[in-house]
Amino acid sequence: MSSTQNVPAHTDIPQHIAVIMDGNGRWAKKRLMPRIMGHKKGLEMLEEMTANCSRMGVRYLTVFAFSTENWRRPLDEVNFLMGLFLQSLQKRVQKLHKNNLRLRVIGDRSRFAAEIVAGIEAAETLTANNTGLTLTIAADYGGRWDILQAVNQAIEAGEKQITEASILPYLSLGDAPEPDLFIRTGGETRISNFLLWQLAYTELYFTQVLWPDFDKTELTRAIESYQQRERRFGRTSEQLPIAEQRP
Ligand code: IPE
Ligand code: IPE
Ligand code: MG
Repeated sequence: MSSTQNVPAHTDIPQHIAVIMDGNGRWAKKRLMPRIMGHKKGLEMLEEMTANCSRMGVRYLTVFAFSTENWRRPLDEVNFLMGLFLQSLQKRVQKLHKNNLRLRVIGDRSRFAAEIVAGIEAAETLTANNTGLTLTIAADYGGRWDILQAVNQAIEAGEKQITEASILPYLSLGDAPEPDLFIRTGGETRISNFLLWQLAYTELYFTQVLWPDFDKTELTRAIESYQQRERRFGRTSEQLPIAEQRP
């Protein structure tokens, strides 16, 4: 499924939303709390966001939880985040499963502790056949890592010439539609090495709202903004079906 090879089908409710959940630290700082309290609150908001998306009919939600560059943070914070990740793999996954959601994790697993890798595998297996929303957590993920690992896998499989089609099966999210809507909370207007390949034609939405405050009202705002966009995929406005043309 490639937006550069075909014009993808799209609907009023985005099928796939990708989120950079940024601003946890500042949320805590504003309340004179340690940064880690912001991450705790952020995890709660992720649960709420997942439920909201699922109810609205979104099929895929992909969230950036930890970047390949986040290892540069103070060891205490990294350890806390890893602990939170492990804990939610052990405790929160049951609820996802009960709600028929599928959980996936993308990123380089080689730097995680063995128990985290085991937790990821167990959660993915448990929820693999669920038919509801697919929640994908990007952890130790980087857009450059993703492209390079896909190219390397294609070469290992014997591909002589790298094409879009030859690497697509190896890219993270290669079997999902490309994100329709990208949301970054926390006020920064950058991609920070998130889904570089997959965001080629995604509609971008940036908000000052900090991630722990990104509630249903804020999600609705983002989707309303998305609904105002004219998705041309390279064509002229006049070439679009009338229903898709925006004034
Ligand atoms: C995003 O919030 C969460 C992670 C990167 C894990 P931050 O921790 O980056 O929060 P700010 O940007 O410092 O406020
Ligand atoms: C991006 O946020 C990564 C995640 C939300 C996991 P950062 O806070 O790490 O991004 P920069 O450093 O401001 O670009
Ligand atoms: Mg940040």
